[in-house]
Amino acid sequence: MQPAMMMFSSKYWARRGLSLDSAMFDQQHLQEQTEKHVNLVHIESRRSKRRPSEVEIYADCSCSRREFGELVQHLKQHISIISLDPPEQIWLEEEELDGVPWFPRKISELDQCSHRVLMYGSELDADHPGFKDTVYRQRRKYFVEVAMNYKFGQPIPRVEYSSDEVKTWGVVFRELTKLYPTHACREYLKNLPLLTKHCGYREDNIPQLEDVSLFLRERSGFTVRPVAGYLSPRDFLAGLAYRVFNCTQYVRHSKDPLYTPEPDTCHELLGHVPLLADPKFAQFSQEIGLASLGASDEDVQKLATCYFFTIEFGLCKQDGQLRAYGAGLLSSIGELKHALSDKAAVKPFDPRTTCFQECLITTFQDVYFVSESFEEAKEKMREFAKTIQRPFSVYYNPYTQSVDLLKDTRSIENVVNDLRSDLNTVCDALGKMNRYLGI
Ligand SMILES: [Fe+2]
Repeated sequence: MQPAMMMFSSKYWARRGLSLDSAMFDQQHLQEQTEKHVNLVHIESRRSKRRPSEVEIYADCSCSRREFGELVQHLKQHISIISLDPPEQIWLEEEELDGVPWFPRKISELDQCSHRVLMYGSELDADHPGFKDTVYRQRRKYFVEVAMNYKFGQPIPRVEYSSDEVKTWGVVFRELTKLYPTHACREYLKNLPLLTKHCGYREDNIPQLEDVSLFLRERSGFTVRPVAGYLSPRDFLAGLAYRVFNCTQYVRHSKDPLYTPEPDTCHELLGHVPLLADPKFAQFSQEIGLASLGASDEDVQKLATCYFFTIEFGLCKQDGQLRAYGAGLLSSIGELKHALSDKAAVKPFDPRTTCFQECLITTFQDVYFVSESFEEAKEKMREFAKTIQRPFSVYYNPYTQSVDLLKDTRSIENVVNDLRSDLNTVCDALGKMNRYLGI
């Protein structure tokens, strides 16, 4: 098959995306060039949607702008059409960011992050419950296809779940919902009935991601998108910066419905979604994501650990009692009971120390971290973010769903103008309260 499209992305700014359309392209050309200058981090091919006789090639490479230019020149000799994405004119600005790890500047660029799956997908480990089940493995391939073909702005394909999958979900749903009234935080308990009403959260029905996404958008501005498996912390956190949550769509293996070695749709729908509908939690989540953009590998790791001990395993204090808000707890019967028992060690959440705690994947956590409120956790994360070394600050622009870099007086002035307009609205509202309510 001929390659229809080749896309490049990379960790560093000087690297570009490009599309190739060729009748005579040979991967050998890319290989020759990468041997000379370009470090090829990852390459994969997919069947083209455009023409059945073509394949798409996606490559993740690491090189300087000059080297990238040489690569394009070299490929031009063999490729009939090359188009660059993003366009060439924004190179100048990006040159100033040379050395800063690449990050998406607008929501549609999350396509690049969500397609870089590190593990699982259709390849299961030998100790995975579904490893020897060929039907299950085939089914997982289907979910990989759906996620890898998904692009920003498209409706999420609806899945017709098998009776076996619905039965597995039903067991998880039934057992967990017994625990929620005494273990889940109040924000969770408020949103779960709304999800039943609007998204079909029921024992006999697996909710569709598309319905969930539309619901979340109205409640908190979050959306979800399908993902094939594990992403790197950097790619996953980048989604949060845009209020986008990467969700798996497959169901765990039916052999043991109460155990899964990886996130599945039961974990996403029952663990994450009810909290993502809460505006304050949404803001807290976005705060972690924004802090990660352009941060060093070391800082991203610290933020990922904070994410792990809050959004996955966080506890909060409500009416004098500990309650769970972390999705890893709210989707695991055993650990949910354990975390709120007197056997669990509990400490106050403080990103400066929490970021060094070891994250345990196959056992219960050694310690859980408690926040007084999402507001408090957000403020702590915001303070922590200031310690991250970046030559700029980031400002999320909700109108364009893009990130503005605040690194000179002009960019800062634009934000001040927006704030001035918001303050005017607040002053006007306060004036009206004075006049009409006599406050
Ligand atoms: Fe999760």
